[in-house]
Amino acid sequence: MARPTNGRAAAGAIPRHVAIIMDGNGRWARARHLPRGAGHRAGVKSVRAVVEESIRQGIEVLTLFAFSSENWRRPQSEVDFLMQLFLTALRSEVRKLKEQGGRLRVIGDLAAFPERLRQEIAQAEATTAANDKLILQIAANYGGRWDLTEAARRLAREVAAGRLDPNAIEEASLVPQLATGGLPDPDLFIRTGGEQRLSNFLLWQSAYAELYFTDLKWPDFGAAAFADAIADFGRRHRRFGQTSEQLAGGGDTASEGSGPESPHDPDRI
Ligand code: FPP
Repeated sequence: MARPTNGRAAAGAIPRHVAIIMDGNGRWARARHLPRGAGHRAGVKSVRAVVEESIRQGIEVLTLFAFSSENWRRPQSEVDFLMQLFLTALRSEVRKLKEQGGRLRVIGDLAAFPERLRQEIAQAEATTAANDKLILQIAANYGGRWDLTEAARRLAREVAAGRLDPNAIEEASLVPQLATGGLPDPDLFIRTGGEQRLSNFLLWQSAYAELYFTDLKWPDFGAAAFADAIADFGRRHRRFGQTSEQLAGGGDTASEGSGPESPHDPDRI
């Protein structure tokens, strides 16, 4: 995919895949004496801004953590609010995404979601399936450990059916079984809201991701802050297990295609 450059990130590489934990909606609302729901609603505007900036910068995959497996522990009223917001945001944002040539994917254990929401998700995925500008991947009722457990279960079924030799299982066997199967791993992992944790998000996939934490609450994280994060990524020195001297001779591995092809290269650090 061509990587358009611009003033803000022209000097560095553009990540192929950016994963974001959108944190701080509740605190953003509290600071304004507003109900938490107002923070989530404001957060949808940031989703739109980040999607548009991703398309503008030529990012291939954007994965947003919308609802974690642990979020069910919130008060029922907030869970209901988030489900409703997700449904309305899905309708309005998917229409825009479609116009912009983007594709929607939703990953996570959707079985626990209301039937109507599941149907709309399936329809939105189907109507955008042929688009290739940006893959907007929403993680809903997702957990990294759930993802790995599911992958292990699928491999175990293959073994039980006699189609897979346990001794032949390697890292590459697991990858297509993950919810993200087939997509590149995140190069850049962003968390807003001041916490510095992975919170069970894309655990396997983020093994070599560059981490970026900001104190900005998600509703305050717009296109400019996102572009800053991408520019910061462009200045990072990804050595992929090589020495600085090797890199000095061979160029910047953070540039497209110059690092090892396999994201599972054990020397990639
Ligand atoms: C974390 O903030 C945010 C969430 C649990 C929900 C995120 C949802 C949206 C931004 C809206 C819908 C999303 C899409 C993709 C259409 P928090 O409530 O944990 O904030 P706090 O830590 O300040 O309490």
